[in-house]
This record gives sequence, C-alpha cells and structure tokens, in this order.
Amino acid sequence: MRVLFGLLVACVSLAVHGAAAQDAGEGERIARQWCGNCHQVARDPVRASDAVPSFPAIAQMPSTTQMSLAAFLSSSHGQMPDYALTRSEIRDVSAYILSLRDRPGR
Ligand code: HEC
Repeated sequence: MRVLFGLLVACVSLAVHGAAAQDAGEGERIARQWCGNCHQVARDPVRASDAVPSFPAIAQMPSTTQMSLAAFLSSSHGQMPDYALTRSEIRDVSAYILSLRDRPGR
C-alpha cells in the first residue's frame, strides 16, 4: 500500500515537474529520516560533530555537485546502516543538500 502510494506520488510529481525534476522537499524528508542520526542536515545547528560534516558544510564545498553526491551516495559510508537509496532518492537528497548552498562569495 505504501509502495503504491509512493508510486502515485512519484507519478504525480513527475507529471507536475517533468521527468528530470528534483524534489528538494522530499530530499529533506529523506535526509531527516536517514541521515540525521549522524549529520546535521539543516541550517540551524541542532547538533554539531567534528567527525561528520554538516549538510550545509558539504553544500559549501566547491567540489560538491549533483554528480559527486550521486556517486558518493551510491555506496555506503561512515558505517551507515546498510540501506540503499534509490536513484530518485539520491537525486532528491542531493537536490536538498545543494539547496543549502549559500550564494557564491559567502
Ligand atoms: C552512521 C552515520 C552516518 C549516516 C547515517 C550518514 N552519514 Fe554521511 N557521513 C558520515 C561520516 C562519518 C562522514 C565522513 C567520513 C566519510 O566520508 O566517510 C560522512 C560523509 C558524508 C558526505 C561526504 C562529505 C565529503 O567530505 O565529501 C556526504 C555527501 C554524506 N555523508 C551524505 C550523507 C547522506 C545524504 C546521508 C543520508 C542518506 C548520510 N550521509 C548518512 C556518517 C554518516
């Protein structure tokens, strides 16, 4: 049932945004669910850790691109629990991370 609903949502959002759409809002939900245990996923510093880079910090790195994130997230890292993100989840969560990037020059 959840899968069906997810498919429905995916279809609707595809229809609305077009096939290449990235959904940063969905990405934020994924980030909070899957990444928030280790990473600070939002701008507001809820918790800071030296060992794990925050998503805003990752977004700031010049080397971070949609592509580098997709490559990185295709395998697990940092003793992440063994889960696999789908390609669309990777796209959404990458879009979310990149949406945290400040204007250039800051
Ligand atoms: C179990 C803890 C843990 C979880 C869960 C986790 N990470 Fe990480 N992450 C780390 C650690 C530790 C590092 C730094 C060391 C490394 O790169 O392996 C890291 C590094 C990263 C980097 C690379 C930063 C760089 O220096 O290039 C990205 C991007 C990233 N995480 C994204 C995510 C995303 C997206 C999720 C959720 C889908 C996630 N992480 C979940 C622990 C975690």
